[in-house]
Amino acid sequence: MTILILYGTLEGQTAKVAERMADTLRNKGQQVTTLSVEQLPTNFEVNNFDATIIGGSIHMGDYPNQLKKFVMTNLDWLNNVPSAFFTVCMGIHSQHVETREEAGHFGEDFVAQSGWHPKLIETFAGAVKYTQYNFVTRFIMKLISKREGGSTDTSHDHEYTDWETVDCFAEKFMAVIAELERI
Ligand SMILES: Cc1cc2nc3c(=O)[nH]c(=O)nc-3n(C[C@H](O)[C@H](O)[C@H](O)COP(=O)(O)O)c2cc1C
Repeated sequence: MTILILYGTLEGQTAKVAERMADTLRNKGQQVTTLSVEQLPTNFEVNNFDATIIGGSIHMGDYPNQLKKFVMTNLDWLNNVPSAFFTVCMGIHSQHVETREEAGHFGEDFVAQSGWHPKLIETFAGAVKYTQYNFVTRFIMKLISKREGGSTDTSHDHEYTDWETVDCFAEKFMAVIAELERI
């Protein structure tokens, strides 16, 4: 199968998650293309792909605009191929249960509003990349990290992604494809 993994990222963690999934699927013999939604070639054609995983990170409670636009523009295709959606954010790693619950709803709320029906939806913890932020963002992210139980050491970046959960999601997607191929 030809699988498209399309992602929307601001600081790169969602791209890293997408590449990890691609490795898992390639190891299972699938033909996988990973693409940033910001860098779609002009002649890009969704119909060249049999299945897709779409992923986006959350900033200020929302997904990247280009990602939202892609989903709305390609709804028919998305609902006609095996598809999955993942979210990367930090709320899911909070020490506060309400924040974790809120973060767990980003994906479901988005697909419900869009009318897309992916077979799988998952939320992964991302990273706090202090070294990539400007002074103001670093200051705000440090305050939020303190409140939510993350590291306040701004001298380096902190990755919270659980790679086993990411691998598990890719395996589940393989199972979805295998099931459909059997029908
Ligand atoms: C300016 C800023 C705003 C953010 N807003 C949220 C948010 O509203 N909710 C949340 O759960 N995480 C939030 N995060 C955390 C990001 O989702 C997390 O850092 C993620 O790994 C970013 O993924 P990316 O590198 O693929 O863009 C924010 C991060 C930054 C820098």
